[in-house]
Amino acid sequence: MIVLGIESTAHTFGIGIVEDEKIIADVRAVFKTEPGKGYVPRELAEHHAKHAKQVLQNALNQAKLSMKEVDVIAFSQGMGIPNSLRVGASLARYLSLKYNKPLVGVNHGIAHIEIGKLTTKARDPVCVYLSGGNTQIIAYSKGKYRIFGETQDITLGNLLDVVAREMGYDMPGGPKIEKLAKKGKFVEMPYVVKGMDLSYSGLLTHAIRLLKKGVSKEDVAYSLQEVAFAMIVEVAERAMAQLNKKEVLLIGGVAANKRLQQMFRIMCKERNAKSYVVDVKYASDNGVMIAYTGLLAYKSGQRLKIEESGIKPKWRVDEVEITWLD
Ligand code: ATP
Ligand code: FE2
Repeated sequence: MIVLGIESTAHTFGIGIVEDEKIIADVRAVFKTEPGKGYVPRELAEHHAKHAKQVLQNALNQAKLSMKEVDVIAFSQGMGIPNSLRVGASLARYLSLKYNKPLVGVNHGIAHIEIGKLTTKARDPVCVYLSGGNTQIIAYSKGKYRIFGETQDITLGNLLDVVAREMGYDMPGGPKIEKLAKKGKFVEMPYVVKGMDLSYSGLLTHAIRLLKKGVSKEDVAYSLQEVAFAMIVEVAERAMAQLNKKEVLLIGGVAANKRLQQMFRIMCKERNAKSYVVDVKYASDNGVMIAYTGLLAYKSGQRLKIEESGIKPKWRVDEVEITWLD
């Protein structure tokens, strides 16, 4: 079965094609910001609309397929930025109607989880979803991926991006912070874990204050990573203990961070558990994860009517009916 997946929740317009569990196309157009500037929803939508046709053509070429040979069209229906989401949803509806192909709506967060599982062979992990838009500890239980802990304010990705922006770097900021951190030393930062939730806004204010006081970028980057990552490791470890799970899976763009990966490996070694990281090629937003999750959904009977294919900008992972596990 061949599924074409369209991703357009935020900065990336991507199309991936899978043939069952085999990835046969992965094409992306990623919106780039100018240094010191964030994403503007309208500009994202313009970018996606401008690149959609070429990305589709390149994906079909890569897979050596024509649209007629595709069996199912999947698209990211939410959560995400409305302007961006609409571009992918419109293309999906158009292709579904024009070529008479069934449509499946995919939750973006669930897609990050499923591509993580596919690329690592993790079976029943506590998932640590760290991206620009999400900071959540998630695990599967009785028909749903449930959220066991999350940020009460800004996300970890956002924290790294805003601090990097404050330092004068462009988006994404995470990789710049990672690089600077290699040469830094430790300065105090506020560590805020409340039960199973965490808070990063105090850390953000503090980091910016330190930069303004003249503390080096390297020291701020290093300390920021140490404290922010330790907080997430603590919550993930508690979820593993309470749920009696022996695997942890890092997903989302921040999962690419080597220091974060190392901290999770150390924690897992101490508890005799296994630590997995999504294949970094698929850590950031991409169409492949949408295609693959669409395949799972379609094979388990899910179909989306055109009249139900409206975007869901606030669609949380714990609202999604999981029909392909158990
Ligand atoms: P979602 O819509 O799922 O919330 P997203 O659209 O923000 O995701 P992702 O590509 O999953 O996109 O994640 C982007 C985030 O990952 C950014 O905040 C970026 O700074 C961060 N990131 C990328 N690489 C690294 C890295 N090496 N270290 C730390 N953070 C990183
Ligand atoms: Fe994402």
